[in-house]
Amino acid sequence: MLSKNYFYTFIGILVLLACSQNKSSQPVKFNSIQIEAGKPLVPIQPTMYGIFFEDINSGADGGLYAELIKNRSFEFEYPWMGWQHLPVAETRFNTGNELTIMNNAKNSENNLKYVRIDKRDESNDFGMSNEGFDGIGFKKDASYDFSFWAKSNQGLIKLRAELRDTSGNLYGHTEIEVKGGGWSKHESTIKTSGTVANGRLHIYFIGKGQCDIDHISLFPQDTWKGRKGGLRKDLVQLLADLKPGFMRFPGGCIVEGRTLNERYQWKKTVGAVEERKPMINRWNMEFKHRPSPDYFQSFGLGFFEYFLLAEDIGAEPVPIISCGLACQFNSSEMAALEDLDPYVQDAMDLIEFANGDEHTKWGSVRAAMGHSTPFNLKYIGVGNEQWGNEYFERYVVFANTIKSKYPAMNIISGTGPFAEGELFEDAEKALTALKPEIVDEHYYKNPSWFKDNANRYDKYDRNRYKIFAGEYAAQSVATTSPDNKNTWECALAEAAFMTGLERNADVVYMSSYAPLFAHTTRWQWTPDLIWYDNLNSFGTANYYVQKLFSNYRGHYTLLIRSGKENLIGQNGIYGSASIDTVDRQVIIKLVNTSNEDQHIDLDITGLKPVKSASEIELTSSSLNTYNTIDKPELIKPVTKNMNWASLNNKVKINANTFKVFLLKV
Ligand code: AHR
Repeated sequence: MLSKNYFYTFIGILVLLACSQNKSSQPVKFNSIQIEAGKPLVPIQPTMYGIFFEDINSGADGGLYAELIKNRSFEFEYPWMGWQHLPVAETRFNTGNELTIMNNAKNSENNLKYVRIDKRDESNDFGMSNEGFDGIGFKKDASYDFSFWAKSNQGLIKLRAELRDTSGNLYGHTEIEVKGGGWSKHESTIKTSGTVANGRLHIYFIGKGQCDIDHISLFPQDTWKGRKGGLRKDLVQLLADLKPGFMRFPGGCIVEGRTLNERYQWKKTVGAVEERKPMINRWNMEFKHRPSPDYFQSFGLGFFEYFLLAEDIGAEPVPIISCGLACQFNSSEMAALEDLDPYVQDAMDLIEFANGDEHTKWGSVRAAMGHSTPFNLKYIGVGNEQWGNEYFERYVVFANTIKSKYPAMNIISGTGPFAEGELFEDAEKALTALKPEIVDEHYYKNPSWFKDNANRYDKYDRNRYKIFAGEYAAQSVATTSPDNKNTWECALAEAAFMTGLERNADVVYMSSYAPLFAHTTRWQWTPDLIWYDNLNSFGTANYYVQKLFSNYRGHYTLLIRSGKENLIGQNGIYGSASIDTVDRQVIIKLVNTSNEDQHIDLDITGLKPVKSASEIELTSSSLNTYNTIDKPELIKPVTKNMNWASLNNKVKINANTFKVFLLKV
């Protein structure tokens, strides 16, 4: 006989079984979605998904530009910034050895300062050390190009350069004698025996005498394409993997400057790097909560390098130039209309720099830098986040002058910093009359805004300018809040929004997330697409959203509907569909922003027999998760093959999930 306990357990199991049977027998509710695969609608521009580069968050110096020495030419406001004298102790004052900053203003406008070394005794511990960008990162068994400019004035001084960690352990060194009475470049290599994220470069002066030294530089040899003095390989790879259709540079507010003096002037960023005069970075002290007093622009990554990078990664170059109006959130300083000529001339010369043959004045500068063939520039932006009449009247002068010489150039104008409201509407009106080819809109908004605006361009006038969604990112807390994170909630909302960009590819020609880069300790603005420290880097969930849209763009949109409506949030589902005529595949992007799994019955007309199918899923168990430097792959795409025939056009998308279906036909 069964004991009482067994009896109750038995009954319990029966009840559970009955319940679970009941559950599984509940009919699955299907969302019905219709796609017309046989009727390509409008072309999706190759420029649809691109990147927005600005030197913010140590995006250039301390980031993409692989230079490891901060303030290499002693041109920061305080010339010793980033440098420390050795020995650190007071004993150095008793030796008679001296390090002095010499002011060279009389001889060079761009290279004002250098260091004079007076070595009067034989001690071997006299020198200086550089802290890099919150440390110098170097890797085991790698080679680093160490170089400096110097001249010997008297006696004989040898430089001993050492890579050490903060505890003083040595990982590599080299020695070079300072030679010659005139300035010349001295070069050597340091090989490293270990990996250190937060190292220092120590330079000791050995011997007796006097010499001058400037432009002290240290670069990994393992740069992107192995170029000397080049770019960080891992970061460029992350960009290349996006397959961006365009690259906008150099910003952003950095174009405008806090004052006109601090605007970005491309001519000062080309030619020999030693002659490029560093300047304060406008993000230096912009935010009281993230002061960055040691943030300057070396311009080692300048306009030539930007064009080259765009070419390397197959992106259309999209330079943005100052319109003679400094940041209107800061000084609003502007050049009078009658004084605008030099600004306009900068734009004209830039086009010549990019496209002119080697016999033209600026084309020859490009050729001398190693690129005799033109860069084939097709787009130029006038101003960044400007507003008001003061902008429109300046824009007109630029547009008329550019068009008169380069009628095929696509000119990009902008509606300013706001996605709606009076300033935005004024700009829409003014720009409709001025007829720029493309207009840049910016939106830094909360995740709900992005979902609610997936239909933003469904309603746009088809007969006016095209749209460049030039800067956008969902903000988890608030715009410019230092607490913003690259959460899955934000990335998912952006994916929902981007289906709206893609569905409206006849209006939206370009789009880019912003900002692009951030150093994990040297940032000012968050969220950002790609993060890194001195050794490692990773893509955020937002990066993977961008990558999936860009890598699976397609060539034509397809109609995708829920009944008679666009797919804009019914049961939390957003979607777009396209056809790739080269890879011969139908691409369906579905974003489920609801907290429920959603089953979908895809009614696809005009679909040729599917040869193979796969799905790429991007999801996370929590909306608040985000990738970090320690857990860089918490959220990443997972690809699975599908047996399409067996599915009977029925697919499932889990709660809070973005899926891309690829149907090869
Ligand atoms: O992306 C950061 C800043 O946001 C850009 O410089 C500016 O254009 C916008 O306000």
